[in-house]
Amino acid sequence: MDRRKALAPALVVAAVSAIAAGVAVGFGAGHYTSRVTTVTTEMVAAAPATSTPTAVPSVTPAIAAGAHTFVQFACSQCHGPQGRGGVSPYVPDLTTIGKALTVPQLVHIINHGLGESANPTKPYMPVWGEVISSTQVANLVAYIRAGLPAVSTNDPVPVPTGQGPAVAGAALYVRYGCIDCHGPNGLGGVPNPLSPDKTIPVLSGQGFRQQFNTDAKIAAVIESGSVIGKAPIVSMPHWGGIIPKADVADLIAYLKTLK
Ligand code: HEC
Ligand code: HEC
Repeated sequence: MDRRKALAPALVVAAVSAIAAGVAVGFGAGHYTSRVTTVTTEMVAAAPATSTPTAVPSVTPAIAAGAHTFVQFACSQCHGPQGRGGVSPYVPDLTTIGKALTVPQLVHIINHGLGESANPTKPYMPVWGEVISSTQVANLVAYIRAGLPAVSTNDPVPVPTGQGPAVAGAALYVRYGCIDCHGPNGLGGVPNPLSPDKTIPVLSGQGFRQQFNTDAKIAAVIESGSVIGKAPIVSMPHWGGIIPKADVADLIAYLKTLK
């Protein structure tokens, strides 16, 4: 429930932009900005008969791949669907700034993070350099610089309802990108060479169970994250203010099912 509510403002913004795009197209092709052109792509998809194909910017394979990577690595969970913001006041909308930044700047921000802070109430831009391949980073940059256009079949993993918290938690584990850093089933295996452990920790097994033996301890680390060193060391992002409490509870229920 909560996550639907959190997404609602972003969806309203998207709907309003789509209407604005329709108006812009009505008033005269050729004068709208590239952002509006981008949104026009959605209009074309919805109503191909009434649109001019020549006005459609091409979504290249790199841009489409970037759109999928943006969802896969939970960029959309913090920056909103298509980077439109609306999730947390600390996480910027990427549509304008994304075009103002150069390719090297964007690559650097994604690989090294931004605004890293030990303050657990403030989310920061995580360090992704060890986790996301350089091709995936290049695709993300292409997608952001293209104005984060709509790409079909790019919805986050659906969260099943009515099947209990552990089932919902398993889907949330994918949706929030936990799987990208902690591996399928919390089995780990993602290297973090400069960190003390040289790897991103497993979230299963005896060692984990002993250290995190209460729900409160697991909730605290999910919400407060950690800063274990400077980039390129990957730290645990702060999810407080991003992941609703109910989702944190579902994630914990899921983690407790792991061997
Ligand atoms: C845990 C939440 C979170 C996740 C996940 C996340 N970001 Fe961020 N991102 C932030 C925050 C917070 C900032 C602002 C940091 C600052 O300015 O101090 C930011 C800033 C940025 C910026 C710079 C924007 C500016 O205004 O300078 C870019 C670009 C960006 N993120 C891209 C991405 C991409 C691409 C992904 C996925 C690989 C991603 N982010 C995932 C929280 C997040
Ligand atoms: C960008 C990579 C990244 C993502 C995404 C990520 N984590 Fe982490 N996580 C880490 C790192 C690195 C640590 C180790 C931090 C430390 O040693 O202080 C960690 C630590 C943890 C711990 C404590 C385990 C331990 O042994 O210290 C838990 C629990 C955890 N993460 C859960 C999650 C959950 C749940 C999600 C998804 C909501 C998630 N993580 C997403 C990188 C990540």
